[in-house]
Amino acid sequence: MTRFDELIAADERIEPRDRMPDAYRRTLVRQIAQHAHSEIIGMQPEGRWITRAPSLKRKAILLAKVQDEAGHGLYLYGAAETLGVDRDDLLDALHEGRQRYSSIFNYPTPTWADVGAIGWLVDGAAIVNQVPLCRCSYGPYARAMVRICKEESFHQRQGFELLHTLAHGTPAQHRMAQEAVERWYWPSLMMFGPPDEESTHSAQSMAWKIKRHSNDELRQRFIDMLVPQSEVLGLRLPDPELRWNAERGHYDHGEIDWSEFRRVLAGDGPCNAERLAHRRNAHEEGAWVREAAAAYARRKQGEIS
Ligand code: ACO
Repeated sequence: MTRFDELIAADERIEPRDRMPDAYRRTLVRQIAQHAHSEIIGMQPEGRWITRAPSLKRKAILLAKVQDEAGHGLYLYGAAETLGVDRDDLLDALHEGRQRYSSIFNYPTPTWADVGAIGWLVDGAAIVNQVPLCRCSYGPYARAMVRICKEESFHQRQGFELLHTLAHGTPAQHRMAQEAVERWYWPSLMMFGPPDEESTHSAQSMAWKIKRHSNDELRQRFIDMLVPQSEVLGLRLPDPELRWNAERGHYDHGEIDWSEFRRVLAGDGPCNAERLAHRRNAHEEGAWVREAAAAYARRKQGEIS
């Protein structure tokens, strides 16, 4: 048994200087980079509502939330860099379509209620998926997740509160909230990844204790959590087959349209092209900021006067 195997068996953390199998490192780089890319691409769907938020208070909350997402991306790129990769290379891989970001951010936000639905459903799914990652076997990723989960929990509550206000407002506001939930419900279930029998990485990632639960297990946990919350909101989840199954102790649910998931992953979702084009453009337009920051850092180190 290698030291790595011993640490995994003892449920200890692997740290950057520990020896680790190449495949373990590659899996982590893939997952952490994909996670980081999701955070920064995830700023776009809500970011477009900052200038149109209905009050100063809502605007301040949304600004803070979108800034948090940028921060999450930065912690995660930092965690990936401890595995010996370079942030610039990861960004190139995103911009050239060699690395993925979450399917969920390829959907549009046509109304203000979509901001609430993202907070409640998308950030809710993120929490269910990410709380177990706080116990991931790779130390820097696990530690980054602790703070991220605390902030995600604030994000989810603000979404819930926003939707609750709309759902208890005028009939038109209630309808807007209901329609947003209908748009985001099924895509949010797809955030947990393909069904277990089609998940290529789960078995190995669970053996390495990167993942602690399977995709379907977490998806079920999320659905079980949503049903009572939807009742408090007074909004209907768009699945006529949702039913409590006392024998299983879980809600049964309808079929997920996996062909839609595959289409979005293949680049053919409603906003894939727009999201990547916006990201590439932001990167190019931000080049001068990176150059200025690097020059300032060099100056601080006394390399230039
Ligand atoms: N969106 C895009 N791609 C996905 C998604 C998704 N929702 N789910 C799975 N995939 C991809 C996987 O990356 C993998 O593709 P690849 O082999 O080309 O890299 C393929 O589908 C098969 O999936 P799995 O074998 O199940 O992949 P994995 O074991 O990595 O599990 C999961 C997927 C659950 C998303 C995992 O990577 C994870 O927990 N990631 C961290 C959380 C995260 O990235 N969240 C981002 C959204 S939350 C937020 O930003 C607010």
